[in-house]
Amino acid sequence: MFLQFDGNGVLYAQLARALKRAILHGQLKAGAALPATRVLAAELGLSRNTVLTAYEMLCAEQLTVARVGSGTFVATPAVLGDRPSIKAQVPPQTRYAARLRGLPALTIRRVAHRLRYDLHYGEPLVDPPLVSAWRRELSQAVGARDWGYPPSIGLRVLRQAISEYLARRRGVVCDTDDVVIVSGTQQAVSLLARVLIDEGSVVAIEDPGYELASRALQAHGARLLPVKVDAEGLRVEVLPRGSSVRMVLVTPSHQFPSGAVMSLARRTALLEYAAQRGCWVVEDDYDSEFRHDGVAIPALRSIDAHDRVIYVGSFSKVLFPGLRLGYVVCPRGVRDDLVAAKLHDDLGCGSIEQAALAELIQSGAFDRHLRHASAELRRRRATLLDGLREHCSKHLVVNDSRAGMHVVGWLPGWTSRQVEALAAHAAERGLGLHPIAPHYRRQPAPQGLLLGYAALSAKQLRAATALLGECLGKIADQTP
Ligand SMILES: Cc1ncc(COP(=O)(O)O)c(C=O)c1O
Repeated sequence: MFLQFDGNGVLYAQLARALKRAILHGQLKAGAALPATRVLAAELGLSRNTVLTAYEMLCAEQLTVARVGSGTFVATPAVLGDRPSIKAQVPPQTRYAARLRGLPALTIRRVAHRLRYDLHYGEPLVDPPLVSAWRRELSQAVGARDWGYPPSIGLRVLRQAISEYLARRRGVVCDTDDVVIVSGTQQAVSLLARVLIDEGSVVAIEDPGYELASRALQAHGARLLPVKVDAEGLRVEVLPRGSSVRMVLVTPSHQFPSGAVMSLARRTALLEYAAQRGCWVVEDDYDSEFRHDGVAIPALRSIDAHDRVIYVGSFSKVLFPGLRLGYVVCPRGVRDDLVAAKLHDDLGCGSIEQAALAELIQSGAFDRHLRHASAELRRRRATLLDGLREHCSKHLVVNDSRAGMHVVGWLPGWTSRQVEALAAHAAERGLGLHPIAPHYRRQPAPQGLLLGYAALSAKQLRAATALLGECLGKIADQTP
């Protein structure tokens, strides 16, 4: 039981006041039993007599009644009501807090477990072999008994494993010391904002784009400049020609959410733009591991001759988001600032998880998981596409980017109201659908759905696409 002692006077009186506050504010409701004196004494580390005396004081004030043989009960209803929330009481204390409070409600919906099938795009593919490998590595890492603070830059073994992995699979050649371990893309973006941009600095972001990253930048005080995306990725030619842009945040290997892969011409143009203006390009390479046509697309950083690209990788898609581990590869000067910011933010990421992850990569279990996950994702994707073709092609135009863990199904001619009705009707029938429109800043947004397939089996995907077909037909028929 949570009780707040005020620190004034003898303990039994403090306990009586704390219990009185809990009763008057409704934390303890009328009729509720107070904990047995022995239990509360043990929980709070007090003597039983202290608790007995406090209970007697409450009885004397008629706030409680004692019933012989059954305990002490609250006798009065709350009179002071719920405590007002801190937010209501205290105006924002800093410009940062004011900006945080001013951010619109999050539009990203988390998985709803009551649904039969949820085509949520952010779910990982976690299979039993990965679970056992992770359990083994974690237990070994615990056994190593390295309980101290980790270096803020990250464990050397993990940074080395990542630099080898990046050279092998992403074409990014870097030293172990160029790699900084962070707790995912989200922290990478927040820390990079702190060390690279000031309040009011202009940051170009993709439109549509990844909302959580742009919120972190906005909270930091950046002025966001949404730039349209087409089939070749960010439209570099519409970036302002002056030198006002400090940073460009892109997902070139698999644009989120549209799925576009940035063309070589655009990549070259973006690198030239950054080199000429001395602005930074932050490359969010969140799910590039999964290419389904066998053609790996090297990271933007791998062709950056001017050291303007800051590469951000994450284990949220290739392993699972609850791990909260990612990394940044950046030029030395930025790296030092980033490590200092990391140190002052959280000292460093958990050393047990870092050690376990390093071993998972070095033992080959990570590569095995990637091979298996890629093959399984290909199977699931093929099932989804077959199902969409069979049941939904009258309404849905599929944009298959042959990468990642989701496809986009466009709904040409549909209105936002129809798509909302579709999502609501589908949810009633146990199918989770996720419109793409909330990921657009400029309105009116084109209508469509993000269709994630990583977390559903082939059988579930077959059933989900059949159900989607029925829902589409139903809503289309309702509209004249
Ligand atoms: C575009 C994009 N970047 C990065 C991430 C991963 O973020 P984090 O590493 O903070 O989990 C996601 C996750 O959904 C994403 O969609």
